[in-house]
Amino acid sequence: MTSNTETKVNHVSDKIRCYALGAEKPSRYAHSIRVAETAVILCKLYNVDPELGYLAGLAHDICKEMDNDNLLSLAQTDGLEITSLEESKPSLLHGRGAAVLLEKQFDITEKSVLEAVRYHTFGAPGMSKLAQILYIADKIEPGRNYIVQEKMDYYYSLSLTNLLITVVSENISWLENQGKKVAPISRSLLQELKKTFDKENDV
Ligand SMILES: [Fe+2]
Ligand SMILES: [Fe+2]
Repeated sequence: MTSNTETKVNHVSDKIRCYALGAEKPSRYAHSIRVAETAVILCKLYNVDPELGYLAGLAHDICKEMDNDNLLSLAQTDGLEITSLEESKPSLLHGRGAAVLLEKQFDITEKSVLEAVRYHTFGAPGMSKLAQILYIADKIEPGRNYIVQEKMDYYYSLSLTNLLITVVSENISWLENQGKKVAPISRSLLQELKKTFDKENDV
């Protein structure tokens, strides 16, 4: 990253930090900071710009406490279909809403950051390494009560593809055990990842 871009990212991070402090309850803000810090660790492990990882983590839940009507009207402007699952539970649109807000209100043009925030809830096939990292960081940040240090050590020993397969699979199993719906896009992501893993490992 050039120093100009770095200055811009730092400046926009300050603006988002102020917004997040006002828009998120303290526990959610603390989660966002842990996600940002976990994303930085993962970015360094898998060769992605850590500044962008921090920014995406800091910003990913800025719409989590927004009311349904505002979320729906934000998400309707991103050009993607609103799925029946999202329609039945508009809070699931908080990533899409946040991506719209970041582009329109905070002038973020970095596509990988917008994509990462947009897809952090369900994931999506073909997503960038930064988006993969944010999805993972959101699920494994150390405040999650199911995360223990040994598990983190195991996670950090995996390739990015294998780590994402592990985290997406665990998330799908958890949803199924809870009797909750699994977004079809998450299953498509898992299928794609397994093919990528086979190619990467010459299976
Ligand atoms: Fe979220
Ligand atoms: Fe989150």
